[in-house]
Amino acid sequence: MRKTIIAGNWKMNKNPDEATKFVSTIKNDIDSNDCDIVLCVPAIDLISVRDCLIGTNIKVGAQNIYFEDSGAYTGEISAKMLADSQINYVIVGHSERRQLFNESDEMINKKVIKAIAHGIVPIICVGETLRQRENHVEIEFIRMQIKNALINVSGTSKFVIAYEPIWAIGTGKTATASQAQDICAEIRKVLAEIYDPNIADEIQIQYGGSVNSKNAKELFAMPDIDGGLVGGSSLTDDFVSIIKEAI
Ligand code: 13P
Repeated sequence: MRKTIIAGNWKMNKNPDEATKFVSTIKNDIDSNDCDIVLCVPAIDLISVRDCLIGTNIKVGAQNIYFEDSGAYTGEISAKMLADSQINYVIVGHSERRQLFNESDEMINKKVIKAIAHGIVPIICVGETLRQRENHVEIEFIRMQIKNALINVSGTSKFVIAYEPIWAIGTGKTATASQAQDICAEIRKVLAEIYDPNIADEIQIQYGGSVNSKNAKELFAMPDIDGGLVGGSSLTDDFVSIIKEAI
């Protein structure tokens, strides 16, 4: 039985002061045993948010890693550093990183492997552009993103897939629940091909893209959608309401 997972992706928002103030006000309302809750915060906030969440079931995630453990990689943070700091999750391959920072499928695959090697759960993001959807190549494209991200990744590893159509991110334009369900079902199908149906059945698949407390319930009720990766709404009290829709 898959657990629902709601993750907030704060992106480049909230300094450590703002982060701890916000987390202190919402943590008791979002703490849950029934649902996995993750806050993916900017690197500078990781430690203060981690400390603020001690004694709760809420997990902390980073938004990126590099695929080496240490060395001359100015500006980067490794999966090992996160693991040594009790950080539990990391977003890998977000479309903003793919588009703005030229992350390739190959780099994303290396990051996924590294995160898993250090016991960190990667939230692997996939999703099509508007142009791809209009040209009806979204399924083919997403299948390829998944296959490339999971090269040499065993089916017994723990990872999460987040389907985030690029046209729905930060636009207020959510995919309809049935559009999101169709793609999440395709994702599960490709996971069943790579591994087997039993393994695919256990993998959590999130939807992301303009999720808010008004559309969350319908999205999360879909059979292959196991929660959300929430951007803008995770920065406000709306995140609490989204979680209440999920539990
Ligand atoms: P929004 O919820 O702001 O559309 O962002 C989605 C997202 O990119 C989460 O990773």
